[in-house]
Amino acid sequence: METLKLRKITSVWIIIVLTLFVVAIVLGILMRLNQGEIIQQSPITFYGNMTTHGLTMIGIWFVAGMAAVNYLLERYVKTSYAANLFALVLTVIGVLMLWCSTFIGEFHAGWTFLYPLPFKIMWAEWATPLFLSSLGVLGLGWLVWSISLMAQILKKYSISQAFAWQHFHKNPKVETPPFILITMITLIGVIACLIAAVILLILFFIEYFSTGSFVNDALLMKNLTYFFGHTIANEMLYLGLAVIYELFAEVSGRPKWHTTWYVALAWNLSLIFILTAFFHHLYMDFVQPEGLQIIGQIASYLASLPAAGVTVFSILVAVYRNKINWSLTNLLFFIGVAGWVIGGLGAVIDATISNNFILHNTLWVPAHFHTYNAMGNVLFSLAFFHWFSNQYYHHKERQNTLKLSILLIGGAGFLLAFYIGGAESIPRRYSTYPSDLPMGATLASIAALFASLYLIAILIFFFNISKKCLKILSSSPQSS
Ligand code: HEM
Repeated sequence: METLKLRKITSVWIIIVLTLFVVAIVLGILMRLNQGEIIQQSPITFYGNMTTHGLTMIGIWFVAGMAAVNYLLERYVKTSYAANLFALVLTVIGVLMLWCSTFIGEFHAGWTFLYPLPFKIMWAEWATPLFLSSLGVLGLGWLVWSISLMAQILKKYSISQAFAWQHFHKNPKVETPPFILITMITLIGVIACLIAAVILLILFFIEYFSTGSFVNDALLMKNLTYFFGHTIANEMLYLGLAVIYELFAEVSGRPKWHTTWYVALAWNLSLIFILTAFFHHLYMDFVQPEGLQIIGQIASYLASLPAAGVTVFSILVAVYRNKINWSLTNLLFFIGVAGWVIGGLGAVIDATISNNFILHNTLWVPAHFHTYNAMGNVLFSLAFFHWFSNQYYHHKERQNTLKLSILLIGGAGFLLAFYIGGAESIPRRYSTYPSDLPMGATLASIAALFASLYLIAILIFFFNISKKCLKILSSSPQSS
């Protein structure tokens, strides 16, 4: 059972994530206002904001998923409070270092900091090593946390049980809960991509300190960057899915979900495909061996299909013609799964080589990944935050429909502007659009308006949830 300490640290994670989220959304709206020519930022400010926005968003929604998984894992195994705290402290330090490098040092190479951009110094000299070190600090905290969670799972479940392989036979003696299976599969991917990040950072530092005597291989660096970046951005969604498998049935008043042979198979397959799908980021790197490009396309299709198939099937079976206790928690899960699937379809369209010739590096890219993040994974975590804080301080919240409607309308309008821009071949990552693409600025202004609605909804969630989390933080063992 979870302890008061775990409850408190989870509350701290939630407050930090929501606070940083509000700041990062404001940076996003400023970018759209600049692209819409409503405000005028220098390119340095725009790209600094883009770098801070991208990395902060990826970081916070990763730790949000980890904090939720850590909290729920305590239902099955004992987790390490020290590892959780270590990750929290390093996350705060890492984010402060990152923000110093971008806001003060004006580092602005984008969240993918693609080699050799960090060495093309157009900012304070110290900003490059500070930026790279901030990633090192964040990566270290998250790696230790992930390894610790996996070690705790393996203390109770053997490797084959953690992967649910016994479910390939009839009537298995031990049942692996779906939550354990998905958490295990996800943690392996997380650990693999964090190790890639460590290697990448070491290579960056060797070149930095070698003052010209050592030069990295650009293709290797790009492979490592996308193995890390693509994988972590996808794995954080799977952390959210683990939470859904654990909580959806419970909060809906339905029987708990069990692992079957097809659930076990789907998630085991996802493990392989998710680690090889990143090759689709290198379609335009013609020196990459062709076989890897083909693997990239096949894995991109297969990475999403098994996990999405069984998750959507499980949710539909749970809700179809059944009496469901609908609450804000399962509504957020339900809408979030829809957002995940729609964004996933957008991703598969882009990852198809023939389409990629047209959509490559257009606004279609932020369109699809914002869909499964802003209207998918964020909703999974908001659902957990809401459920978690309500467990201890439950009072009937009013205007849930209004809150959800503002979130949906704001989110849909903001995303649609990206999709239309992508279909019109408007390039991504332009601080202002060339005059022969006038639609870009119009769409950006409309997007800023809708994103502001999304922000209003998030502020209401922030206020309601943080209030309860602050109460949890001030509670004593007697009051809990
Ligand atoms: C309403 C909320 C949001 C707004 C207004 C917003 C806005 C933006 C804008 C304008 C860009 C630059 C697009 C371009 O021209 O290429 C961007 C990039 C990005 N956003 Fe968001 N965003 C939001 C939510 C999110 C969320 C929830 C995530 C979660 C992961 C996210 C992650 C990213 C990433 C990774 C980039 C790429 C940065 C880069 O290219 O270096 N955003 N966002």
